[in-house]
Amino acid sequence: MLVSMIDSMKIAREKGYCVPALGIANEHNLRAVLEAAEEKRSPVILLVMYGNNPDIQYFGHIITDLALRATVPVSMVLDHGEKYEHAIAAIRGGFTDIMMDRSALPYEENVAEVKELVKVAHAVGVGVEAELGHVGFLGDLSQNVFTVPSEAVSYVQETGIDALAVAIGTSHGKYKGKPDLQFDLLKELREKVPVPLVLHGGSGTGDDNLKKACEMGITKLNVAFELYQGALEEIRSEAFQNDPWAEYSLYAYMTKGIKRVAVHAMEICGSVGRA
Ligand code: CO
Ligand code: CO
Repeated sequence: MLVSMIDSMKIAREKGYCVPALGIANEHNLRAVLEAAEEKRSPVILLVMYGNNPDIQYFGHIITDLALRATVPVSMVLDHGEKYEHAIAAIRGGFTDIMMDRSALPYEENVAEVKELVKVAHAVGVGVEAELGHVGFLGDLSQNVFTVPSEAVSYVQETGIDALAVAIGTSHGKYKGKPDLQFDLLKELREKVPVPLVLHGGSGTGDDNLKKACEMGITKLNVAFELYQGALEEIRSEAFQNDPWAEYSLYAYMTKGIKRVAVHAMEICGSVGRA
């Protein structure tokens, strides 16, 4: 079934678990993640980055079709939307939610852009997540700007967003250096911020760190890089290299890798058996 991530997160918060949000770029990734969710009876949030699939409207229709057939709650989110046009294309493509990332902008500009989008999205029942502080890319921890709790509270009030992506020490992509998660900051954010909290950069952050973050109040955990890494591991495996049908089995191997990582993320989130 297709549901807004806001509804999935609301239930998760009440019951005390986290919803895995998994990156997909095409139909093969999509099917792999949905199979994992069905097998593990887990709700799932699908993340699509515009850069990974710019034909967001068409892809949205494919996702919708499969999500409606699913027997577990499935949400679909435009991840890291930067442009107004991309967000509107996602809404037209049937996305249940959008994540607007204007975290590199000064506070006032971030608020102004996100607030406008919230107005549009809420008019058609689409949920909005936005980011304050900044979670860096390419594993570069020096890009990080931690979320300031008092600012986060006013940001949520001013924009009207439904979920907040926080920067507490994770990074997108392969880490350069070791992540040092600020759990005290997370605790303070959880106490003060009234909407569900989202953690980006879950890949490579470490199972213990992530489990602790979920237990401490992260309600949506984003994992993308690690899924694609799982696909790559299968392609690099002996089994694939020696498979006489390798060319024909390419996508089957990739699916296997993505499913493995997807299931692992569900286990960390505590979402297995919740759907
Ligand atoms: Co992200
Ligand atoms: Co792990």
